[in-house]
Amino acid sequence: MNPFSYGQVVSDRDFCPRPLLIKQLMNYADAGQNVFLQGERRTGKTSLIHEAVKKLPGYKLLYIDLLEVKTIDDLCRRMITSIVRAEHRVSFQRKLLNTLSQLRPSLSMDPITGFPAVSFDSRMGMRPDSIEGILNLAAELGSKTKLIVAFDEFQDVLNIHESSKALALLRSSIQFQSNITYFFAGSVRNQMNGIFTDPESPFFKSAALLEVGSIDNKTFVPFLRKKFASGRRTVSAETVNAIIKKAGNIPGDVQELCACMWDSTSAGELISEERLANGLKMIFAREKKAYEATLMHLTGQQLRCLVGLARTDSIKALSSEFLEVTGIGTTSSVQAAIKRLVKLKIIYRYKDTYKLSNPFFGSWLIWNGY
Ligand SMILES: Nc1ncnc2c1ncn2[C@@H]1O[C@H](COP(=O)(O)OP(=O)(O)OP(=O)(O)O)[C@@H](O)[C@H]1O
Ligand SMILES: [Mg+2]
Repeated sequence: MNPFSYGQVVSDRDFCPRPLLIKQLMNYADAGQNVFLQGERRTGKTSLIHEAVKKLPGYKLLYIDLLEVKTIDDLCRRMITSIVRAEHRVSFQRKLLNTLSQLRPSLSMDPITGFPAVSFDSRMGMRPDSIEGILNLAAELGSKTKLIVAFDEFQDVLNIHESSKALALLRSSIQFQSNITYFFAGSVRNQMNGIFTDPESPFFKSAALLEVGSIDNKTFVPFLRKKFASGRRTVSAETVNAIIKKAGNIPGDVQELCACMWDSTSAGELISEERLANGLKMIFAREKKAYEATLMHLTGQQLRCLVGLARTDSIKALSSEFLEVTGIGTTSSVQAAIKRLVKLKIIYRYKDTYKLSNPFFGSWLIWNGY
């Protein structure tokens, strides 16, 4: 069995220890301090939340994923579904049905997952003022046990047409719930920042920031080598460092590349750095169609900027050096191309420069001689 896990929450033995972050998160929870966790995609925010709560004795987690949430109705339904799953007591469920009676709810068992599910008369859409009632139900859960409510991909609330209203209502209920700690996680840096640091936002200064970056190589390298060794594959620390670098230091991508290197080698093998290319080729074969589809949407200048960023590590994106690499004459053209690439989420801003959201896409562009 391939021991590398990617694209999903990792726990227990698949979770490389991050003691400092776990401790910080546990301390915040104990102090009742709300937190916003911010980091790039696939750095381990969701796994960290689950792992920290597991370590907190007597705490329960109410996990609400807001990925691609589009309407108030959708937001409310996701909150209710999490609440229903978190509390099976009949008396509580009765209360829940009463509170939401105007929506004509009915409780059932999901035949596939076996989890309780609640459905509503589809003609009765939920409105902004439903939010308060739903959060009061969460507070009810918090009165029986120590509760952490985690809103994941929180920035997607901004997709909602009435997002300011939704944020204001969420905030006004949350601020009075002193018995619940709230974690807000998200990966679109500017949007998350806007929600928590813009004085105009209802959530301004309402939560402490916890940055989730890449995993320290001192723990990640031995962790990954041990996984290779479990299938009698020997990999030097240098090779693992090279894998981490190739995967842009993003834990999820590192594990994906390791998984492919595992699949392209056999037990008893000493895996050298040259084998990295085989792992990458496996990823390219799988992703080729998606890469090509992305390229179809780009103009020549956008492509040149993208390739420029893939080829350079530390050049500032708008510097004269970068202009030279791309062969584009004017800063304003580079600026426009970069703006579009950010909008398409193909690249993101990182300190003084921009990075490709998917480091393997960059390797593929270079490998194909773009
Ligand atoms: N502590 C860890 N140890 C080992 N691998 C990890 C760890 N944290 C994250 N990963 C890797 O990253 C992947 C994504 O983890 P997770 O879903 O927790 O990240 P995320 O930041 O929430 O991602 P997204 O931005 O997509 O929501 C995991 O499947 C795993 O491959
Ligand atoms: Mg996540």
